[in-house]
Amino acid sequence: MRSSLFGKNIILGISGSIAAYKACYLIRGLIKKGAEVQVVITESGKHFITPTTLSTLTSKPCISEFFAENDGSWHSHVDLGLWADVMIVAPATASTIGKMANGIADNMLVTTYLSCKAPVYVAPAMDLDMYRHPSTINNIEKLKSYGNTIIEAESGELASHLMGKGRMQEPERIVEILENHFDEQSNVKGPLNGAEVMITAGPTYECIDPVRFISNYSSGKMGMALANVFARKGAHVTVVAGPGVPRPSGPASARIEMVDVVSAQQMFDAVQLHKDKTILVMCAAVADFTPEHCADKKIRREGDQMMLTLTPTKDIAAFVGHHRKGNQTIVGFSLETHNALEHAQEKRNKKQLDMIVMNSLEDEGAGFGGDSNKVTLISNRGNRALPLMSKTDVAEEIVSEIIKLRT
Ligand code: C5P
Repeated sequence: MRSSLFGKNIILGISGSIAAYKACYLIRGLIKKGAEVQVVITESGKHFITPTTLSTLTSKPCISEFFAENDGSWHSHVDLGLWADVMIVAPATASTIGKMANGIADNMLVTTYLSCKAPVYVAPAMDLDMYRHPSTINNIEKLKSYGNTIIEAESGELASHLMGKGRMQEPERIVEILENHFDEQSNVKGPLNGAEVMITAGPTYECIDPVRFISNYSSGKMGMALANVFARKGAHVTVVAGPGVPRPSGPASARIEMVDVVSAQQMFDAVQLHKDKTILVMCAAVADFTPEHCADKKIRREGDQMMLTLTPTKDIAAFVGHHRKGNQTIVGFSLETHNALEHAQEKRNKKQLDMIVMNSLEDEGAGFGGDSNKVTLISNRGNRALPLMSKTDVAEEIVSEIIKLRT
């Protein structure tokens, strides 16, 4: 059978690590499966492997400068970014990862990365101390939050004997990972294939007057991490998003539809249109109260006191919980400052949810804004307290728990 890599356009970014020699085997593996490979190499990459070797293997000029040496013509990183079906940076040094994470586009590799519309895979290669440095860890987390996939070397006994984490993944395995990527794209299989999912995400704004509102610190990152994971596993995802929620990223963004809303009432109305979907995840930090009136003119400073009358909003999670359909799985979130477990369990019962994802603000690194979260999953499968991890990893855990609840 023809490989799903057949006819695919692949940008291979090579940076300056001793592992650059492995890029040759990677190119050979990809081309053998019928892919076209365009190399973009950094200056220091060229110290480890020659452009002549690379262009011979790929049958294409190897790009490293902004301008072609022979005729001075401009290498368009934008066209290249559009041409690609996937970009893989292998080996990726700490420096290149740092530049990618922070948008330092002073070479052709990072410039191409920033223009690239296709999914990006990154195979780090560096020694263990560099890999463990908080700077590298942060930069890798940033890349993950952009939807990029990090390919780590398996940390088996043999690996830890050799160089451990930080060693570049073997080319044969990278070829396999890219092949899986295209397999999944063309024929997504698995428990979530074609499943319809709705997620609420982010804060709501409750209008006080034309320039003021009541809101909270929710960033929408957790909701979007969930959307990206669901979509990658083959689901069709609708995100009902409050203001400021990040846009979809990653290999399966095409399967994510964004419905933007502002207030709790608008979120409630939008959810009505999608409430029959199979999986509902209520991740938004919906305002519990809203001003009774939204003034049509800016409220002026007058007197010593200003009273604002608030009325309760509709509890969206409770509404969908109480109107559930047979085969639905409904998940809510619970952010607590004290007695977290007790309050969360109470909420799960009251709102009739299958699962509550509890975060406690008493735990450092949990909750709003940041890129990490520490949660406990509460369902009829029991309570599972997870360690502090990135929001993407938390999303993976939540999604696999939902799959288990449904099987
Ligand atoms: O009761 P509390 O607001 O803490 O419950 C949190 C859960 O309920 C979250 O899943 C949140 O998305 C959802 N919720 C909602 N509509 C509201 C308030 C909360 O969907 N008006």
